Amino acid sequence: MFIYPHAYRKLKRGPQVILPKDIGIILAYSGIDKNSVCVDAGTGSGWLALTLGRFCKHVYSYDIRDDFLALAERNRQIWNLDNVTFKNNDVTKKIDESDVDLVVLDLPSSEKALKNAKAALRENGCVVGYLPHVEQVKKYVEKLDSLRFADVHTVEVIVRDFLVRKEGTRPTNTGLWHTAYLVFARKPQQQFSADKN
Ligand SMILES: C[S@@+](CC[C@H](N)C(=O)[O-])C[C@H]1O[C@@H](n2cnc3c(N)ncnc32)[C@H](O)[C@@H]1O
Repeated sequence: MFIYPHAYRKLKRGPQVILPKDIGIILAYSGIDKNSVCVDAGTGSGWLALTLGRFCKHVYSYDIRDDFLALAERNRQIWNLDNVTFKNNDVTKKIDESDVDLVVLDLPSSEKALKNAKAALRENGCVVGYLPHVEQVKKYVEKLDSLRFADVHTVEVIVRDFLVRKEGTRPTNTGLWHTAYLVFARKPQQQFSADKN
């Protein structure tokens, strides 16, 4: 089964990674480009952070574990990227950057980092939650709503593999089905009061 392109086979894996099938939709739906600055948490094996680094201007990637940051740093060197900065910091407490275009949260309790994500984002910037369970999605969306994020949109990416053979072409019996739900949202533009007093 094809799960990732050859370049990823060189990278080490520690904690569960975000796979290219889900990274693809993050790149497409967030609208980032080569001028974008992104924040990623947690770093884990660095797969998402490093892929973002191939497409945007700079990535700041946070984790609370030095061993995972060291693993991600080794992966950074394998891909020879100089626009990805790893930081040891708890994003539920603080995100240093401001005016960023994208924040991606892949944490056990991502909703706890949403307030800081909102403060770090520019207006119309995008936050993406990567959430394996439906219960997490519910909690996360409630938090997005209470913080008045806009354009909340939840998706799951299902890739259907096909067998193409002389004896018959059909979908495979098995495949990579569920990985996580992805919740996209936008930081709304500031509303100014019409009341001049
Ligand atoms: C599933 S891994 C992330 C995998 C990563 N997205 C990738 O593609 O390789 C989750 C990571 O979040 C980190 N983490 C958990 N809570 C955190 C927090 N409050 N702030 C920063 N990182 C955190 C964990 O140490 C772990 O490495």
